[in-house]
Amino acid sequence: MTEPLIFEISRPGRCAASLPECDVPQAALPKNLVRDELPLPEVSELDLVRHYVRLSHMNHAVDTGFYPLGSCTMKYNPKMNEVAARLPGFTAVHPYQSQFTVQGCLQLMFELQECLKAISGFAAVSLQPAAGAHGEFAGMLMIRAYHLDRGDTGRTKVLVPDSAHGTNPASTAMCGYEVVEIRSDARGNVDLDDLRAHCDEHVAGMMLTNPNTLGLFDEHILEIADIVHSCGGLLYGDGANLNAIVGVAKPAELGFDVMHFNLHKTFSTPHGGGGPGAGPVGVTDALADFLPGPIAGMWPASSDSPDDEPEYGLYMPPKSIGRLKSFYGNFGVLVRAYAYIRHLGAEGLRRVAEHAVLNANYLRVRLQDTYPLPYRRVCMHEFVLSGRLPGAEGVRTIDIAKRLMDFGFHPPTIYFPLIVPEALMIEPTETESLETLDAFADAMLRIAEEARTEPDTLHNAPFTAPLRRLDDVRAAREPKLRWQP
Ligand SMILES: Cc1ncc(COP(=O)(O)O)c(C=O)c1O
Repeated sequence: MTEPLIFEISRPGRCAASLPECDVPQAALPKNLVRDELPLPEVSELDLVRHYVRLSHMNHAVDTGFYPLGSCTMKYNPKMNEVAARLPGFTAVHPYQSQFTVQGCLQLMFELQECLKAISGFAAVSLQPAAGAHGEFAGMLMIRAYHLDRGDTGRTKVLVPDSAHGTNPASTAMCGYEVVEIRSDARGNVDLDDLRAHCDEHVAGMMLTNPNTLGLFDEHILEIADIVHSCGGLLYGDGANLNAIVGVAKPAELGFDVMHFNLHKTFSTPHGGGGPGAGPVGVTDALADFLPGPIAGMWPASSDSPDDEPEYGLYMPPKSIGRLKSFYGNFGVLVRAYAYIRHLGAEGLRRVAEHAVLNANYLRVRLQDTYPLPYRRVCMHEFVLSGRLPGAEGVRTIDIAKRLMDFGFHPPTIYFPLIVPEALMIEPTETESLETLDAFADAMLRIAEEARTEPDTLHNAPFTAPLRRLDDVRAAREPKLRWQP
């Protein structure tokens, strides 16, 4: 990095803020709040603005370029959602206000729950969880509560396919269950024989992502649900890939008992760098009493007074697993998802899924004769190639990913799912144009050619990024989280 850091341009006495004259008697700050020894940078307002704008230019974002990060659904987030989320009626309220004064917020939560019910086919929804993984945790807690409530205490195992996202076994283990891995078959579906072999009276349930992390729709989903249900287990749906089927198929009708929605993926929210998100959970009637709460409810206007409005409020389901998030959940994300769903409507949401699948298949077909495609079939919203290029044995997926940055693209997800060696997981999303898809495919084909003819170009990439090749392992093991002189 050649630009000076903000600490280096600090000069004593410079200040980026100008406060108005104090119009009340000044009081000394409590001693424990004053920390004179803190070496905070002293800079002008202009220095400060340049510092942050320069940092923002060093980032790749959906708003600056193509971001085909598989499983993360980095699609364009309509700015209209931001306008909605910034309306003073949503931002200038306090969570301790009485419910009577925040009827609009509660109405939005209630209507979003209703939208998610209609989209998924589930009987009830809670908006509490703050992320997909949080929703998984809520789902597993509900499954556990359901079995225990029936006096069924012998269920200790949860089945998880070998293609699953790492959060699935993690959430399962956090709920005290043993994780049992189920193999995928040669077409990338769950191996039914392996599933049958592991289904018994100790199984609490199965966690399944459909379409799965290979971007493939499991062709045996109804049979899988039957097998799991026939041994008394429940089927958990990881809804991270709902954008591939939204408006086309309802997870509850596919046999799932509980599923989380990743609002920040399927229904848009800028969510790079780990947040913000929301992972509501939907459930069938059998699990509705166990949902985390509070949940938004609507009480109809009283019949004696026709002018009365319905009243919105919060309630706790009778056997709730409890509260998972303070106050109203990640409310700003709920507003964005609501605006997105209401703007697109049922027909628009269906087109989201259709175009996500169309774009992924277009790219797949352009790349599959150059990059190995282990599961060679029509994909859903994403697909997984291998970076093991024939004739370029010294090149690894990490080299391909780094080189893509020189072409202005964010690399795809790499080395996941684990069952594809040197995986490159590509999710173009529905919001990209044909020209962008072609430019990306052209770059991938050129990189494959470079891998064979000038592999060192790939080994030394990136050349244009603000920082060159980083030592990822060292960065993870010895993180430097603050500037040191
Ligand atoms: C398939 C899958 N499941 C679960 C998650 C977890 O979601 P979140 O990041 O919102 O916790 C992800 C996130 O990338 C995912 O791709």
